[in-house]
Amino acid sequence: MPEKIAVFTAWPYVNGNLHIGHLAGAYIPADIFVRYQRMRGRDAVLLSGSDTHGTPVELRAEREGVSPRVIVDRYHNLDLEAYIRMGVSYDLYTETDTENHWHVAQQMFLRLLEQGYLYRDSMQAFYCENCKRFLADRYVEGTCPYCHYDSARGDQCDNCGRLLDALELISPRCKICGSTPVVRSTEHFFLDLEKLTPALRDWLEDDKEHWRPNVLNVSRNMVRSGELRGRPVTRDIGWGIPVPVPGFENKTIYVWMEAVTGYLSVTVELAQIEGDPEGWRRWWTPDVRSYYFIGKDNITFHTIIWPGMLIGHGGLVLPYDVPANEYLMVGGRQLSKSRNWVIEALDYLQRYDPDPLRYMLTINNPEKSDSNFTWEEFVRRNNDELVATWGNLVNRVLTFVYRKFDGKVPAPGPMDAQDEALLNQIRAGFEPIGQLIEECKFKAALTEIMTLAQNANRYLNEKQPWAQIESDPQAAATTLYVCLQGITWLRTMLTPFLPFTCQQLHEMLGFDGSLIGRIYIEERQESKRSHRVLRYDKSNLVGKWEPERLEPGQQLRKPKPLFRKLDESVAEEETRRMLESAGLA
Ligand code: MF3
Ligand code: ZN
Repeated sequence: MPEKIAVFTAWPYVNGNLHIGHLAGAYIPADIFVRYQRMRGRDAVLLSGSDTHGTPVELRAEREGVSPRVIVDRYHNLDLEAYIRMGVSYDLYTETDTENHWHVAQQMFLRLLEQGYLYRDSMQAFYCENCKRFLADRYVEGTCPYCHYDSARGDQCDNCGRLLDALELISPRCKICGSTPVVRSTEHFFLDLEKLTPALRDWLEDDKEHWRPNVLNVSRNMVRSGELRGRPVTRDIGWGIPVPVPGFENKTIYVWMEAVTGYLSVTVELAQIEGDPEGWRRWWTPDVRSYYFIGKDNITFHTIIWPGMLIGHGGLVLPYDVPANEYLMVGGRQLSKSRNWVIEALDYLQRYDPDPLRYMLTINNPEKSDSNFTWEEFVRRNNDELVATWGNLVNRVLTFVYRKFDGKVPAPGPMDAQDEALLNQIRAGFEPIGQLIEECKFKAALTEIMTLAQNANRYLNEKQPWAQIESDPQAAATTLYVCLQGITWLRTMLTPFLPFTCQQLHEMLGFDGSLIGRIYIEERQESKRSHRVLRYDKSNLVGKWEPERLEPGQQLRKPKPLFRKLDESVAEEETRRMLESAGLA
């Protein structure tokens, strides 16, 4: 039985377009990871969906004067397109406004209630007398009581990352009308985190050597400090899943509690699609390694709340790792949808190819600390690294062979020490580079591969097959064979990172089949409504994480450049475009 690896990504709110912060924070790292795992022959799936409920979507709908469903459809569809075009290979990407998800989320709620992990209590909540409504946490802003950041949201402070109770905010204000809300009493269900603390503590204190230090510290501190009190998990808002308890029909399940349950419901939907309704269980047994790729603002929901719910439910495996990323800045500023300081994936794709962005966001990934995207660096790395190092190596070797060797892989003669050294070095990369990917150190892994490509370039420059071919054609054939074999191996190692150009190269080298699979949209009909999901077709998939031998005589296909050089002016133009749309120019 192959190892089972469940790769999950955070479910993004569909209140705006996917941007490079989402891609760098979760989606590209997760895609690299799952592609690698598939190449290792593991039973690996990538699963997620749109987070359709809650106040972020409701707020947006209110602002536009349309129903939330209009907003959901718009952004869900745009997100699907962005994933397809960026190559994020979801086995299933669904959404939370489905009958299946409603059912699973309500069952989870009832199960926690039955097991004694939910209790009922009345609580004080903000009520805006001007807007005549209770204000969900996100509808209240104020000063964080812990770090004194002045724009903390009622659910969480984006500055210090703490989960908040809106009532703790200093100088609260209604996000809709700006007035100061009053406090009123209302009845809700609470998740009993106090009762869950011992089990959570045991789990977090248990072997977590493979966790990122920041993720572990934040989580351990929370259970150690005894900060965990019951948290309300129902809300007085309309856009959400009704609480399945008599008398509570007008309230909805808290969006976070319900969205994390998406991890469970997506496996149920996958099993339904696969025609094996009980099959979801295979993703929740103790032998499964589950990874949750998220941004740092989501850490505690994935290391405290969701594990707490899994414990409360019982019989479901807890996360194996939560490789949360820090933030990606752009031009030294925090990304911000509201201030229009973003680079949206689909906007980027109108002008550039996906792989250079995947490259840039990986080599500069905010794994351990915040990182900064600038267009200057994008252009420089594209030109100096993708074009000059990797692309040129491929292009020089392939066009030369194509012209001088009848488009066939030359048969090598005896190899000298230099030939052997290069091949040994690249072959020896599979093991340690694979290990880095297993440890979610994608930036280091990609850096290592690029070092190997540089060495291959140096080898080519020293051997000079274009001169060898005049004096010693057999030696030239050997050199070119060594280069082509090395390129073939580098293609394998780069596939999880740069799937589109690796597929092109794969074909140019004369191989068949798909290295990258096919991501496509499927319409799923439920009894009341249909929804669109992403699926991943692996039927034609080839490519193992191992040094594949290149056969002499293999027929190449006509080479063309993998990357295009970008003019220096691109950096300026793009930077100006951003400054203008943010009103900063
Ligand atoms: N919708 C949240 C956000 O965009 C993330 C939810 S992740 C999940 O920040 F676990 F709840 F699904
Ligand atoms: Zn108000």
